Amino acid sequence: MKAIADPLELQRLTGEVRRAGKRVGLVPTMGALHEGHLSLVEAARKKCDFLVVSIFVNPKQFGPNEDFKNYPRDLNKDLALLTPYEIDVVFTPEAEAMFPAGFSANVEINGGLVEALCGKSRPGHFSGVLTVVAKLFNLTRPDLAFFGEKDYQQQLIIRKMTKDLNFPIEIVTMPTIREANGLAKSSRNDYLKLDEREAAGVIFRALQLAKEKISKEPINAIKQQLRELVEKEPLAKIDYIELADPETLAEAGFDAKKVLVALAIWIGQTRLIDNLVVEKK
Ligand code: PAJ
Repeated sequence: MKAIADPLELQRLTGEVRRAGKRVGLVPTMGALHEGHLSLVEAARKKCDFLVVSIFVNPKQFGPNEDFKNYPRDLNKDLALLTPYEIDVVFTPEAEAMFPAGFSANVEINGGLVEALCGKSRPGHFSGVLTVVAKLFNLTRPDLAFFGEKDYQQQLIIRKMTKDLNFPIEIVTMPTIREANGLAKSSRNDYLKLDEREAAGVIFRALQLAKEKISKEPINAIKQQLRELVEKEPLAKIDYIELADPETLAEAGFDAKKVLVALAIWIGQTRLIDNLVVEKK
């Protein structure tokens, strides 16, 4: 595993590798790695000859009152977790190398995909994500890039950018990895105190309730029941609970066959998101 911090060194190396006919894979992360990230690494390792994992806490995707400063960082632990996967390069740039003084590009997608769900409560977030992902795509020029369904809206927006801007990259989306109680693995779970971790179980219970009800009751009635369930948990505060079209993220119609159930819930000071695509029988 070669550690590279210089963006242009990464670009040179992946260029050579590609010219040698190897299939290049990219797994972008912000570090504080857990089994969710590692499931992407494992899948990527199987499908690619040359695998790059990036670890970069991207300042552009955090709002002014968000947790950029406190975001968990532990590079040595991350490197130890990656060792068994025999990745080729871990890319760990400094913020100044990615966004030097005078950097002024901004990648944006317009319309419903970015306006829905997290787009409402995190203005500018997805443009920050797209700007860094576009840069990582150009530095690595991977054949395949791997993302988690845990961040459903993010992978959808990245797919849209890839298509609209003709990046010759196959986007692979991998299923959400969860704790034993259903809580989706997340670097932000590190913030949770013991009682909060328990309280966060309500998120998965809400998703399960939606799955159980989807073939039996109207969308609005289900939404109301999810709200009531979450409101019963004293440590939880709803940012949003939505039942949406899994492709457009518009509100699900009464006759929808496939529904994305998406939640953003504050547990104390920690905002957690989760989702499930459910199908009507
Ligand atoms: P980060 O939150 O570190 O996540 C990196 C990748 O791991 C994302 O594709 C995310 O969806 C996936 N992931 C996170 N938790 C997961 C889980 N429980 N199961 C499966 N996959 C999971 O998402 C980002 O970083 C950033 O926005 C990034 C794309 C790196 C751009 O900065």
